[in-house]
Amino acid sequence: MKLRNILLTGCCGFIGFSLSLYLLKKKFKIFGIDNLDNYYSVSYKKKRLKELKKYKNFYFSKINLNNKKHLLNYLKNKKIDYVYHLCAQAGVRYSLINQQKYFDSNILGFFNLIEILKHKPPKIIFFASSSSVYGDSKKFPSSEKEILNPKNIYSLSKKINEQMAEIYSKQYKLKIIGLRFFTVFGEWGRPDMFLFKFYKSFFSKKYFFLNNNGNHDRDFTYIGDVLNILDKLFAHRSKLKNFDVFNICANRPLNLKHIISFYKKLNVNPKIKNVKLNKADVIKTHGSNLKIKNIIGNTKYTSSRISLKKTYEWYKDNRIFFND
Ligand SMILES: NC(=O)c1ccc[n+]([C@@H]2O[C@H](COP(=O)([O-])OP(=O)(O)OC[C@H]3O[C@@H](n4cnc5c(N)ncnc54)[C@H](O)[C@@H]3O)[C@@H](O)[C@H]2O)c1
Repeated sequence: MKLRNILLTGCCGFIGFSLSLYLLKKKFKIFGIDNLDNYYSVSYKKKRLKELKKYKNFYFSKINLNNKKHLLNYLKNKKIDYVYHLCAQAGVRYSLINQQKYFDSNILGFFNLIEILKHKPPKIIFFASSSSVYGDSKKFPSSEKEILNPKNIYSLSKKINEQMAEIYSKQYKLKIIGLRFFTVFGEWGRPDMFLFKFYKSFFSKKYFFLNNNGNHDRDFTYIGDVLNILDKLFAHRSKLKNFDVFNICANRPLNLKHIISFYKKLNVNPKIKNVKLNKADVIKTHGSNLKIKNIIGNTKYTSSRISLKKTYEWYKDNRIFFND
């Protein structure tokens, strides 16, 4: 059987790497690209890349999506069936510091990619959006119909991506699906996010700086469940419209203080210093997964007890990756 060709951007990042590994095991051919950006440890990204390179159906190229000429050259002679566009400058807090990177990687990078793909449309382009497009919502769970209210350049870049996708899907024969991820966590996760920073403080015996006394709820969504959802979405792809967006969430917000107490019981208890609310943060995220359920049916989610434990165990076994 002929293997299907997938272009996967951001393959050295957390979700891109996890999805690449998942698809490689399912015998897809992955053309992975990433610029190995230094927003967080490049050596950690290389560790992920080393795992992917163990598969003979994986082909890596170091490409910056800002470089349209390079991307065009790269894609010129390739027949791509599906695209997962997962590269971006991630992180809401860093968007208060370096707005330019969000413009370059998220807006211009996305534009370059769809400008090239409009001339030879793949069957579907899936791209990463974010729960942050909802902003400071008051109504929960957030449904995809809600009016979007981005409160920083990161979330604005994702809203713009969604709007660009809708326009291109109408003007060209492009099928583009946005995935609004909600706080994804798990093995090989991101060192700039709450859980890995919490573990790092614990192992390095340094203070963990807790914003707003931990009065935050996040719809933490385990990577294993995300992969399962994306797999089902792919299997039901014939039901998808030319443009649509879906929340990718557990529909189960967890309170940061509760997570801290959970780990305390496992004796993972870094010293905590309370600091004020970060301007980029929202108080709560909680997504509705009704819309995606209508396409993929019911999905089983891993219990938070198990996923939080597994994530910690993975970090503990691999903490040598985070000593830089
Ligand atoms: N992890 C989450 O909880 C979460 C939540 C909401 C949305 N998202 C979105 O999902 C996607 C994947 O997130 P992640 O957590 O894996 O982030 P990540 O930072 O781990 O991965 C992003 C990857 O993109 C690469 N990259 C950045 N700019 C690039 C460019 N200009 N050209 C080529 N490669 C570039 C980086 O080197 C990195 O490896 C992103 O679009 C992110 O905004 C993630």
